[in-house]
Amino acid sequence: MVVHHVTGAFVAILKSQRVQAVIAATGMSSGVGSIFAGALMVVIPALVALVAFGPAPRSRDTPKVILVTGASSGLGKLMLDELRRAFPASVVYGTSRSGWSAKGTRVTKGDSPLGVTEADGTQPLLALDVTDEDSVERCVDAIVARHGELSVLVNNAGAVLQTWAVDTKAADAEAQMATNFHGVVRMVRHCVPAMVGTVKRVVTIGSIGGRIGLPYNSMYSASKAATMAYTDALRMEVAANGVKVSLVEPGDLKPGMVNAAKAEGFDANVHAKGAFDIMRAEEAAGTDPAVVARTVARCVRSLHPRGRYLVGPDAWLVEVLTRLCTYPMREYFLASHYRIPPRHNAWIRV
Ligand SMILES: NC(=O)c1ccc[n+]([C@@H]2O[C@H](COP(=O)([O-])OP(=O)(O)OC[C@H]3O[C@@H](n4cnc5c(N)ncnc54)[C@H](OP(=O)(O)O)[C@@H]3O)[C@@H](O)[C@H]2O)c1
Repeated sequence: MVVHHVTGAFVAILKSQRVQAVIAATGMSSGVGSIFAGALMVVIPALVALVAFGPAPRSRDTPKVILVTGASSGLGKLMLDELRRAFPASVVYGTSRSGWSAKGTRVTKGDSPLGVTEADGTQPLLALDVTDEDSVERCVDAIVARHGELSVLVNNAGAVLQTWAVDTKAADAEAQMATNFHGVVRMVRHCVPAMVGTVKRVVTIGSIGGRIGLPYNSMYSASKAATMAYTDALRMEVAANGVKVSLVEPGDLKPGMVNAAKAEGFDANVHAKGAFDIMRAEEAAGTDPAVVARTVARCVRSLHPRGRYLVGPDAWLVEVLTRLCTYPMREYFLASHYRIPPRHNAWIRV
């Protein structure tokens, strides 16, 4: 049916008076001209799609040092493994607030065991809290003192709090922004000046939740939206210094964020609890985070990394819906999807 309509429209355009007039002006016969114009109508969109979505040329330079924040669990842990596999000649450090706990060994907050290598050849996690200026400064200074530079910063550390937009406690709101947004700003402030080699990259893990205000996740969405806007501005400001900045925006990832927290009394509200359960179920059936890890490695390897990388079918669905739908339509779909009054019994549900 769709193919039939598309073919009909295609033929109608070719037969239109304007196209035929252009063909006549070139001196070609109508038949040859129509075939030529038809070929152009296929080739030009195909070329545009190839440039937009096709394989990007790879950089020949190897990053010297890569730093991934929040690498003790979930996506960060996977990225550490993927980047170590993808860049065997690079030093890839991961961080955690409590320092490294590999093989049962712990160091106190603030100690950065650079240079300590485990029996399997990997580096343990460095102590770094993105909300703590001193901790970030100590960690980045130690890296620069040892390696002379930092090549790639992967901003991954993040937290999520389920809360009500109206009742969010000031401390909860500030904590979300402190980790998800100010943490990124702080890392950029300390790391970008240390990027002095041939590879200079900032890759930040955003979320499709930053493109829409997710109900009962207002602070999370706000922190990711702020990060998105900051990242877009940063990209333009540092381009002249050769620093390339990308934002990776995943949809739901399995198994969800392990540090997810709920505001006090959250479960007592039947609609909030219902929306939360839908979200958790969707994360459980979400995209494999390994796909995001591979996307980050591809981004770091690319000669011309994209500004934004959407990951997961739900992320693409949001992208399409936000472009095609009006605001009331988007809100209708979101509220009915999460069963939020007065849309909890809506007759259209996505
Ligand atoms: N999971 C999803 O469905 C999903 C979807 C879209 C985007 N994302 C984004 O992906 C990123 C990783 O999520 P995830 O699912 O892997 O979450 P996760 O399993 O909860 O891991 C979060 C990581 O962040 C670290 N962290 C938290 N607060 C920190 C702080 N103040 N300073 C330094 N590190 C801190 C934690 O390390 P320590 O506790 O050891 O310090 C942990 O390693 C986040 O930015 C998240 O917003 C996740």
